[in-house]
Amino acid sequence: MLSRRVPHAPAPNAWARLLDQRRHAGASLIDLTESNPTRVGLSGAGGAELAALADPRGARYEPDPRGSRAAREAVAALYAERGIEVTPDRVVLVASTSEAYAHLFRLLADPGEEVLAPRPSYPLFEPLAAAEGVEVRPYRLAHDGRWHLDAHGLERAFGPRTRAAIVVQPNHPTGSCLDPAEVALLESLCERHAAGLISDEVFGDHAWPAAGGVVPEPRALPSLIGPRRVPTFALGGLSKTCGMPQLKLGWIVLAGPREACEHALAGLEWIADLFLSVSTPVELALPRLLAARHGFQARVRERLRANLAALDDCARRRPELSRLHAVGGWSATLRLPARRDEEEWALELLRRDVIVHPGHFYDFESGPHLVLSLIVEPEVFARGLERLEALL
Ligand SMILES: Cc1ncc(COP(=O)(O)O)c(C=O)c1O
Repeated sequence: MLSRRVPHAPAPNAWARLLDQRRHAGASLIDLTESNPTRVGLSGAGGAELAALADPRGARYEPDPRGSRAAREAVAALYAERGIEVTPDRVVLVASTSEAYAHLFRLLADPGEEVLAPRPSYPLFEPLAAAEGVEVRPYRLAHDGRWHLDAHGLERAFGPRTRAAIVVQPNHPTGSCLDPAEVALLESLCERHAAGLISDEVFGDHAWPAAGGVVPEPRALPSLIGPRRVPTFALGGLSKTCGMPQLKLGWIVLAGPREACEHALAGLEWIADLFLSVSTPVELALPRLLAARHGFQARVRERLRANLAALDDCARRRPELSRLHAVGGWSATLRLPARRDEEEWALELLRRDVIVHPGHFYDFESGPHLVLSLIVEPEVFARGLERLEALL
């Protein structure tokens, strides 16, 4: 009865079964995968932000498929503060970045066509594309002390059915950014294949402190918004910029050749008009919500600093454990000794009531890797590390 886009539930693996058992047994679990800011004491929305949602103008419904002009101006002002020029006419509001992906897949690809996505990366690309009948073709990021684009792999990934390439800056969970030469290569391949460029910049406000550094100054990571040769769609949202995933607001900023952008905007407007998914109270509150980002981002920086310092102390005591180099984002990738495979490491930790993600969750290609969330409360993070250290 159901379409083939909806997956048939796969049998849970040993790790998922054990997690279920531990939860049912009421175990007190140390969850080092928690990346929801509202569950780790980092909610960005306080009383003033929630009160802004009660603006009496919210009683009227006058939807604009691209999002209200005032809300789009607030998004443009956010970029202006980072020295990036954005006009409100090139902004489209959506209910989340996930919805932005769905809209862009519908805009750019017909069923059976392809989008390219980095590997390892965010595991939601596949199901989001599958739900639109679109296929994801991976292009490889390779690690040799730093993450790099596998240039030949990228060239081979492009084909006659490629309609867009996704880049995640910084990538989740590797925390790496493409350098300018890598971006130039990606852009020229997109141009040659008449493909769009989707730049997921949701973690762009969350640069890591320099090693051993004090709480760093705010520093933004590179954005692809600017003069571009191909239609480029940069994604951001309240989830990561303000710590407000529950308020359901994201945005797409268009860059690139004028005519192609106008064409794309008209298509996006048509798609967005089918759903009108952004709520009026959130649009009205947006300037107030965005103003709260500075406090939220400062608290995240302090958390990243504390948890990275704990991780590095642990790696100093246990040199068989290493943390892969990264520049930003909310996750750290650990490389563990090869005496167990990563599934076994994750299982052993779960037997000690510690939840971590094995690398294959994000399609790491080799070696035992574990991925930890860096926004977990520092006491919880330290307890989890103690158990990892004891296991090592
Ligand atoms: C790379 C990346 N993009 C997008 C999202 C989804 O963000 P949103 O809450 O705006 O849908 C996430 C969530 O973790 C993510 O890691």
